[in-house]
Amino acid sequence: MANKPKRKKGSGDDVIVIKDLYKTYNTDSDIAVHAINGVSLTIKRGEFVAIMGPSGSGKSTFMNVLGFLDSPTAGTYILDGVDGTRLSENEKAEIRNSKIGFVFQGFNLLSRTSALENVELPLYYHGGLRSHEMRDKAKELLGIVGLAGREHHTPNRLSGGEQQRVAIARSLVNNPAIILADEPTGNLDTKNTNDIMGLFTRLNKEKGLTIILVTHEPEVAEYTDRCVVFRDGNIVKDAKMKKKKSIGYQKKDQDMIK
Ligand SMILES: Nc1ncnc2c1ncn2[C@@H]1O[C@H](COP(=O)(O)OP(=O)(O)OP(=O)(O)O)[C@@H](O)[C@H]1O
Ligand SMILES: [Mg+2]
Repeated sequence: MANKPKRKKGSGDDVIVIKDLYKTYNTDSDIAVHAINGVSLTIKRGEFVAIMGPSGSGKSTFMNVLGFLDSPTAGTYILDGVDGTRLSENEKAEIRNSKIGFVFQGFNLLSRTSALENVELPLYYHGGLRSHEMRDKAKELLGIVGLAGREHHTPNRLSGGEQQRVAIARSLVNNPAIILADEPTGNLDTKNTNDIMGLFTRLNKEKGLTIILVTHEPEVAEYTDRCVVFRDGNIVKDAKMKKKKSIGYQKKDQDMIK
């Protein structure tokens, strides 16, 4: 890109810096919804953060702003040293494709498309790789998430947990700086939830990925380092996690990922 946004010097280890962020929705009825109501938050590179809070407290809105899927009404958001509030829509799209990996609850996979092609998809938008390079990259990532040999299965021939692993592989394909996951285990049973959280833990520990994950489940939050709790569009708690769940991670070491 000709005018690639420059990283500010001295941005250091902070991958996300948010100050006084507001997001107000103006609805048809005259009542404005203050979904985010003056939030400030800094997240360091390599942190593994859980976002919790009651339904309607602003978690998804916040994730959408973090991922440049939605613009804040006011406040500043600096991602990896780049001030998001000063970017054009094209620049935001470029950053979305290159720095951010998304994982959603409903997987968002194309149903008639193989696991391999689903993972390759963001590479087409990003450009720059030849088709065999895209294929190799997608294959490598499916191996990392424990799906070697399932590359040609369409989502309806994969379990819910396997589909979520395809979605995670897809989120990693452009080597993002951060992974944003909105209730990634919301549709999964306990075993698949533990598998997915083991995988996230490993990606965080071994690849140093910054992961921000929304969950309603305290057992899921236990895998993370830090828990940020929203209520009515504000952060009401921001605490280090005491008891770190690591058993699932060690188990996964042997049986899921090469
Ligand atoms: N596009 C929109 N237009 C108007 N109001 C919205 C819109 N999206 C969200 N809201 C409102 O903003 C508030 C926060 O919604 P949000 O989806 O961020 O909550 P949440 O914490 O993710 O909830 P849940 O746990 O149920 O997913 C809610 O009151 C919701 O009704
Ligand atoms: Mg939500």
